Amino acid sequence: MIKVVKKVLIMEETMTKQNNHRGFSSKFGFMMAAVGSAVGLGNLWAFPYKVGNNGGAAFIFIYIIMAMLVGIVAMAGELLIGKRSQSNVVDTFAGITPKSKWIGYLGIIVPFFILCYYPIIGGWSLKYAWDYISGTGVGAVGVEDYGAVFSGFIASPQAAIFLAIFLAFVFIIVLFGVKKGIEKASKILMPLLFVCLIIVIIYGLTLEGSIKGVEFILKPDFSKVTGNTVLTALGQVFFSMSLGMGINIAYGSYMGKNMKVGHSAIMVGVMDTCMALLAGLAIFPAVFSFGLKPAEGPGLLFIVLAEVFGAIGGVGGRVFGAIFFILVIVAAVTSCIALLEVPVQFIVEKFHINRKLASVCVAGAAFGIGAFVSLSFGVTQLQIAGSNLLDLIDAITNKMLLPICAFATCMLVGWYIKPKNLADTFDTEKPIAKFGFMAWSFLVKFVTPLGIAIIFGFGLYDLFTGAVKEFPTIEGQIAIVVGAAILLVLAIAINLTTYLYDKHKIKPLKGAELTK
Ligand code: PHE
Repeated sequence: MIKVVKKVLIMEETMTKQNNHRGFSSKFGFMMAAVGSAVGLGNLWAFPYKVGNNGGAAFIFIYIIMAMLVGIVAMAGELLIGKRSQSNVVDTFAGITPKSKWIGYLGIIVPFFILCYYPIIGGWSLKYAWDYISGTGVGAVGVEDYGAVFSGFIASPQAAIFLAIFLAFVFIIVLFGVKKGIEKASKILMPLLFVCLIIVIIYGLTLEGSIKGVEFILKPDFSKVTGNTVLTALGQVFFSMSLGMGINIAYGSYMGKNMKVGHSAIMVGVMDTCMALLAGLAIFPAVFSFGLKPAEGPGLLFIVLAEVFGAIGGVGGRVFGAIFFILVIVAAVTSCIALLEVPVQFIVEKFHINRKLASVCVAGAAFGIGAFVSLSFGVTQLQIAGSNLLDLIDAITNKMLLPICAFATCMLVGWYIKPKNLADTFDTEKPIAKFGFMAWSFLVKFVTPLGIAIIFGFGLYDLFTGAVKEFPTIEGQIAIVVGAAILLVLAIAINLTTYLYDKHKIKPLKGAELTK
């Protein structure tokens, strides 16, 4: 045993030496960081519920096809241009053509705005984990109305304090850089997440009546499969694999020569899907066993599951509650480090300021806006066009800007750079990789952009016909479009000024240069 551990350590050390570049030092480290960015709240509170409501195994089957045709293809495209450019998101696009720099700016703006609300939910999880550990709040004996406890907490200024603590975790990890911060933390946190999941699954499956929960997510029901199911699957693939923002480009730029793009994208897609399925097995058996109704979104984690842990009761309920919310925290932390890294990398490389200062600035700004959003739930009661700020920013970024950014990236890779110019970076030595590359070349040109355009189109249709329950009124819908338009115009305006300004300095790469 000791020998094996030693061998692994030596192997890692030599790999680090061979790969003495600015990014990840080992394949495993890169993989954990990339999977960490993908596995998040989408896996825990959206995927399992969508599976249950859309035909169980039938939905999973469709999801896997969508992940292969759109998710993995788009992800490989993003990793590829990042790996090729070895630089931040904006310069990656500037290197393709200065005219496409706006996509790069969008790729910085979007993760930054997600960073302004996603950690709020991390803060809520921190509070719940703390409550279960200390036996107070939601972890106390005799709580009656879990919904009221949750809405009371998110409306209190305390939520902003937990947001600060959560963001501080994320900030410290990013502060230490890619190798010593992100890679090291992901190598510890992702296995921890897996272990927590397995513990909760085993416990859930031993409960009486838990089989109904397993049936909810696994029993195939083809009668529930409609055109809309395919769209739901496609939208979920998109969100879950963190596509359409700079994350995969930034992480791609930290890939070493020995790390393969196609293989990595497939592995991330597979692991992300497996984690989402495991999350379903961790949550629904317990929910059904206690006769509760499944739900989606924050209500599932913070109300339904809190009821489950309350019903388990005693030390057991608290232990499993704590383990579960630690799992949620870990999933959210590893997604947030990716969100913070994207703007930090850009600032460090562009303005040559050190990482500490850049991290302080970005995390500080995200905290400022995040606290404002958090306080709007109660203290300030601020709403825009009848919607809370968190849902609004979420809709602007996820429903509008992510698809635009991902579509533009695919078009650029498929039609401007052209896949054949990327063959070297893709690494097509083995016959199987060659085949993979040919398939990817076709998909990235035709199938993937079409898929993205379709989800975007139907997403807009749903929004304006009032099918999105958070935005039933026209005011809310206009607010989303205006918000997205402002950010889009901002990105294009910055592009335009820098285009005029450094027109002569940045030369777009052409032909053979693109493969370097
Ligand atoms: N992929 C993450 C999830 O499944 C969501 C996410 C999107 C995280 C964007 C970070 C950025 O929850």
